[in-house]
Amino acid sequence: VGWLIAIGAMFTISARADHPPRPSAADLDFFERKVRPLLVSRCYECHSSQAKTIQGGLRLDLAVAVAKGGDSGPVILPGQPEKSLLVAAVRYTSDLVQMPPTGKLPESEIEILVEWVHRGAPMPADSSAPKAASTSSPIDFAQGRTFWSFQPLRKSAPPACRDATWASTSIDPFILARLEEHGLNPSPPTDRRTLIRRAALDLLGLPPSPEEIEAFVNDPAPDAYARLIERLLASPHYGERYARHWLDLARYSDATDNFLQSTERGWLYRDWVARALNADLPYDEFVRRQLAADHLPDLAPDEIAALGFLGLSPTYWKELKLDPGMIETIVHSEFEERIDCVSRTFLGLTMACARCHDHKYDPIGTEDYYALAGVLASTRLVDRPIIPQPLATAAQQARDEVARLQQEIDELAKKAKEGAPLPLDMEQHLEALRSKVAALQATPHYNTPLAHAVDDAALFVLPDGPHRTKLEYKPNEARDMRVAIRGNPSNPGAVVPRRFLKVLAGDAPPPFQKGSGRLELADALLNEGRPLLARVIVNRVWGWHFGVGLVDTPSNFGAQGGRPTHPDLLDDLAARFIEHGWSLKWLHRELVLSAVYQQASSLPRSQAPLPPEGDPRAIDPDNHLLWRMNRRRLEVEAWRDTMLAAAGNLDPRMGGPGADLADLGNCRRTLYGLVNRRELNDMLRLFDFPDPNAHGESRVPTTTPLQQLFVLNSPFVRQQALALAGRVQSERPGDVAGQIQRVYQLLFGRDPTPGQLALGLEFLTPRGTRSPDANLWPQYAHALLASSELAFAE
Ligand code: HEC
Ligand code: HEC
Repeated sequence: VGWLIAIGAMFTISARADHPPRPSAADLDFFERKVRPLLVSRCYECHSSQAKTIQGGLRLDLAVAVAKGGDSGPVILPGQPEKSLLVAAVRYTSDLVQMPPTGKLPESEIEILVEWVHRGAPMPADSSAPKAASTSSPIDFAQGRTFWSFQPLRKSAPPACRDATWASTSIDPFILARLEEHGLNPSPPTDRRTLIRRAALDLLGLPPSPEEIEAFVNDPAPDAYARLIERLLASPHYGERYARHWLDLARYSDATDNFLQSTERGWLYRDWVARALNADLPYDEFVRRQLAADHLPDLAPDEIAALGFLGLSPTYWKELKLDPGMIETIVHSEFEERIDCVSRTFLGLTMACARCHDHKYDPIGTEDYYALAGVLASTRLVDRPIIPQPLATAAQQARDEVARLQQEIDELAKKAKEGAPLPLDMEQHLEALRSKVAALQATPHYNTPLAHAVDDAALFVLPDGPHRTKLEYKPNEARDMRVAIRGNPSNPGAVVPRRFLKVLAGDAPPPFQKGSGRLELADALLNEGRPLLARVIVNRVWGWHFGVGLVDTPSNFGAQGGRPTHPDLLDDLAARFIEHGWSLKWLHRELVLSAVYQQASSLPRSQAPLPPEGDPRAIDPDNHLLWRMNRRRLEVEAWRDTMLAAAGNLDPRMGGPGADLADLGNCRRTLYGLVNRRELNDMLRLFDFPDPNAHGESRVPTTTPLQQLFVLNSPFVRQQALALAGRVQSERPGDVAGQIQRVYQLLFGRDPTPGQLALGLEFLTPRGTRSPDANLWPQYAHALLASSELAFAE
């Protein structure tokens, strides 16, 4: 038990007290899209400022009022639906009140309220009256276009700084000038050990080996760091690392529906992303292919896999024994999810908010929304080959024929089993069928998988007799949609041609005319949307390197989002990113080679207490001005991969089908763990992996007791502890101090302090004996794996 206590003491991820919880972007999004419409239609008539008299003393339209509750006190215990009166009231299980009084809500709506309470009943602090357009007054687009993120990009000369020697790349003067304005100094550069570990974890998601660290630390050349960065950017592991960042946005999953089948091929898209990033495919082309690879001439056939961005969209169950109106609502929800993912990923705009009413904050109308919905209504999720068409056709014919033959074989086999004696020539017939199957299976590309992709086909939801619905796709056709008033497809408004957003494309955007319009959409993003598109990706890359973007809401560049801390820098960087051919590797270099990036993440411990007026911790506690590097918690992928690498267990094979992370034999990078929308793997779920059902704007690290339990009990961590112990024992036989030193180098990239060495020796030496016991090594290794130092990059 002693070692458990030791682990408890070392596992200090918890410590940091955070600010009082501000609802996350995802929670607010959930409130606006699911909860508010429900409250409005079901409760506000009696529980809001609209009510003639407020019933039960309860208002549900103001955050403070919701927190306060009604006549009988609080009606919501955040996070505890089972104990909340509001939930009991809508479930009709309370003796006190049953709400709404006129009849129970449908189960799906009750679930939304339960989920809302479960999430802590998040709603915007000022949830009553947004200043912007209401449904009655039309959007003022000219006014809307004056908002900062819709402005053209502006390049700036680097500002003058008092210290002219500090800057390494062109971003540094922008940062330094702001620091100087506030009377702050940048932190000193971090030491080389920390720097190589930081850069390797950041660019590859893998720790550097002790040998790589020594080589870098002892490299006297002035360009040692630049060469290190080149080597990291050239490593294929770079593509794996940054693919995962992108896959968060693309809500990657291994399959489109909730059921993972062995035939699922989401990985073709995952591998395409990694390949494209490794090849430094220009970002404009990266965007274009993901929306419209099938409309681009001269692409290699396997580029079709890029369409997985749309091809892997979540699909929802449609019970066709229902009226078309209900099915159409479900279909519209699918469009909403896709519009949300496309608009937030590429433009940082929350267009999905304009499904039921004009956007309440941004200049986006329901017409803009349905113009885009038309593109999606003309786009079908289909499997497509990634090989030249003649080969694909031959392979498909072979597969169809095999399926037919196999059926015949099965029938014969069944007869034989039922006891019907097979005549001799039947045996021969069976044999002939089997060899025919074998021959067909040898057709080239017989087993080459098809990609989850899309093509152009217009979807119609049609009645199919009474209370039945059919979905009909018309291949190579496109359709425009009607506005669904208040989001209700049974209440259609005007037809809107497929086109781009008015705020970006002007008051009369030209209609899309080529097929579904996907290629025209991509081109509009890259032309009319260019400044926004470039700002959004540059800001994301900034956030991936520094922990938080210059705009701290990477997928919301609208009025409700954050404002850039360094607007000139963001614009300048975005403009130069385009000038440098949209090269993401150029952008990485610009950021990672900067002096800002190379700063220490903490004040040197030896430093004497600073005078209060000069203490950066007082002036800029959240480090918005970047007077130091941010200390960062590793994502679950980098953390798991680090354990595998240190233990010597990492299987570095790249690409191909994923495998279950719960399988202890799976030692591949976490990127290759199966992602299931219905049931996310425990480790991923516990350690803040994003919900693969929707666009994930950024990871939000949480600290929970369950994480601690996981580290202590997980067979995976135990397995790595055992391997790590074995590894250092065999690498430094008989030399316990050397083993301890080695394990520190493998895990943390440094030597143990004398105190840590002494502690390790004491731990490994059983009480009352004088010589270390090798059997204690796995426990010691386990304690080190559980330490917070492993889970952070300084
Ligand atoms: C038609 C009017 C009406 C509607 C619609 C309505 N309520 Fe009520 N609500 C009342 C009245 C009246 C009371 C007071 C009932 C009582 O004290 O018996 C009340 C009381 C409550 C209370 C208890 C407040 C307290 O502190 O005692 C809760 C919780 C509540 N309502 C929730 C809801 C929710 C959630 C909805 C929407 C899903 C809703 N109500 C819709 C009329 C309404
Ligand atoms: C499924 C339909 C639907 C979606 C999607 C939706 N809303 Fe709403 N929302 C409503 C309805 C219905 C109302 C109440 C009627 C109205 O104000 O138009 C409303 C009201 C609001 C209000 C209050 C307006 C007022 O005048 O008090 C705000 C703010 C709001 N929505 C914001 C949003 C945001 C932000 C999003 C996107 C994250 C969003 N809504 C998405 C249906 C929706």
